Amino acid sequence: MSRIERVRASLRKGGAVFIRSAEPSDVGALRDFESHMLANNPFGVREPGEAQRTEQEDRQRIERFVREPGWLMLTAWTANRHEELVGELSFRAGERRKLAHHGSFGLSVHAAWRGRGVGSAMIHALLAWAAAHRQIEKVTLGVFETNTEARRLYERLGFVEESRALRYFKIGPGRYVDDVQMAIYVKPGVAPAGFKTWPIVEAKGRGGKGAVGGAAGGAAGGGAAKGAGPSGQAAVSGSGGPPTGAVSGSATSVPPVAPSVPTPAGGA
Ligand SMILES: CC(C)(COP(=O)(O)OP(=O)(O)OC[C@H]1O[C@@H](n2cnc3c(N)ncnc32)[C@H](O)[C@@H]1OP(=O)(O)O)[C@@H](O)C(=O)NCCC(=O)NCCS
Repeated sequence: MSRIERVRASLRKGGAVFIRSAEPSDVGALRDFESHMLANNPFGVREPGEAQRTEQEDRQRIERFVREPGWLMLTAWTANRHEELVGELSFRAGERRKLAHHGSFGLSVHAAWRGRGVGSAMIHALLAWAAAHRQIEKVTLGVFETNTEARRLYERLGFVEESRALRYFKIGPGRYVDDVQMAIYVKPGVAPAGFKTWPIVEAKGRGGKGAVGGAAGGAAGGGAAKGAGPSGQAAVSGSGGPPTGAVSGSATSVPPVAPSVPTPAGGA
């Protein structure tokens, strides 16, 4: 089983969201959210009118995410009384032993909630979980080359471009877009040169953007997750008084510094 308990993330422009694992009972909200994304995501792979899963298939899919030890589906909910679903992240590690040490995720945030730190907070929750997982060493993603907002966000969080699948997406007659694959490591001592290990240790004495000190090529073990971004936004923190965008609360299963924790929350 893989799941994380509910954690609270304060947002950049005020307000907060709760982040927790998806449950089968979320299926209706997730389907509505998917419909919203279909109309509000120029970088989605599925296009309007293309085949869609049934509600039962979606429920079974969520159940599988809960059941598989190397899979995690996270949801973000507004912390106001409406409790609306505003973010979804799905991560899947390989099922074969030779592939179980890495996995890839996709992320979507409701159009009205973008640019406030929801995406960053969800990625931090994923990385904290992955760092505590007994097998996962590396977290990857694929992003449209043209999705500059998302690529900048991933770079700020420590992801580094690893490879490209050329002309992976065909977006019209004779029009192609590369798929850029990016990666970050979550266990000390395994990142190759040029890559970073989460939690990223912030470089001292350098302010502003780009002040994230990478743990390139090796361990960042013991580095504080808090302040993982250059401005301390959306850091995972188990303690009170978080900076804007920090994830906090009763995060029993999202430890602030995870690499020493041998098994993921919920057991794997
Ligand atoms: C990419 C995406 C998941 C990011 O989520 P998010 O909650 O907006 O992310 P954050 O707020 O944590 O960070 C977004 C960055 O873009 C900036 N931004 C500002 N306005 C923005 C807007 N309207 N939309 C998106 N980003 C905006 C933010 O300031 C931030 O930049 P910074 O890190 O340099 O400060 C979200 O924009 C989205 O769902 N996009 C459509 C689907 C998509 O592209 N998914 C990614 C596929 S790989």
